[in-house]
Amino acid sequence: MMSSEWYTASAPGKFVILGEHAVVYGKPAIVLAVDRRITCSIRRSPRNTLNGEYIDFNRQPHFRYLTRDVHYAMDYVTSSEIPPGSGMGSSAALSAALAMAIREERGEPVDERSLVDEAYGAELFAQGNGSPMDASACVHGKGIGVNIPGAGDRELWTITKGDRTWRVSDLDVPDMTFVIGNTGIRAATGPLVDKVRRYMQSNHFACDVVEEIAAVTLMGYNAIRRNDVEELGSLMTRDHKLLSILGVSCRELNKLVNASLPYSYGAKLTGSGGGGCMVALTDEPQKVVDAIEARGGTAYVVKTGSDGVRMEPTPASGPLMDIPMDYPPRQ
Ligand code: MEV
Repeated sequence: MMSSEWYTASAPGKFVILGEHAVVYGKPAIVLAVDRRITCSIRRSPRNTLNGEYIDFNRQPHFRYLTRDVHYAMDYVTSSEIPPGSGMGSSAALSAALAMAIREERGEPVDERSLVDEAYGAELFAQGNGSPMDASACVHGKGIGVNIPGAGDRELWTITKGDRTWRVSDLDVPDMTFVIGNTGIRAATGPLVDKVRRYMQSNHFACDVVEEIAAVTLMGYNAIRRNDVEELGSLMTRDHKLLSILGVSCRELNKLVNASLPYSYGAKLTGSGGGGCMVALTDEPQKVVDAIEARGGTAYVVKTGSDGVRMEPTPASGPLMDIPMDYPPRQ
């Protein structure tokens, strides 16, 4: 008799305080998990379905990669509180939750390191490039630092790909208030990472900008340790300008960043850019929310310190938002 027991896991979204794009080249980054999650339930079934419909694995590269050793049909149900293509780690969170549910269903060992390998593998399969930063943040939750010198005693794992190495460490971030503003424009990570890479290959100036992002990130790390919100905020705004020079901001992101600045210590795009979200560090969250919404964005105050990937007692109830997929779908 086929077991039809549900296995359900969820993983948090994330936002990058400092260091996106530069981290792809092995530079430091600082990331926090947020209180918005993707939940994924699976159970054996006579046919493969996703949220009740036939699943086309060619259009769902994360599912295709993560189920590569699953030789029986399943029902997959997802529900998401993380806007897709917004820089908040929706595809890494989906991958982490699906990887955990599959491992539990198969009775395989589940540990953070193997889940990061699975989730990062799915990200690379779907988008073709990138660092293990998002996968690490969505698996571990709370806060992580990447390639932070001197964080060795909090090291979680080291991942190497080609000539790049990412040393991921656990990070405590003091209580700070962040507001996320979503432009509502979906942008895929892969093409933006490619754009920066091409710019760096053709122009040494872009490499200098990436070095400066690395320096700003390390200064930001020290500001976090001192709980110095003014310094951290001004470094975030500087990072936004550097990311704009790299060509990954857009008018809508700049509009939301500029609208937040009068009520913030600092603000910047977060994630891969090109649309998606910005984040502001503030003591006046409602004013920032109002300013973002007056410019057509969707805003909410972030709660940080969320758990990483975990099993859940009740199955996902179906989509609140689209599940993330690669754009355009890879065949
Ligand atoms: C996307 O959330 C962050 C990037 O740095 C890409 C990556 O690290 O994989 C733009």
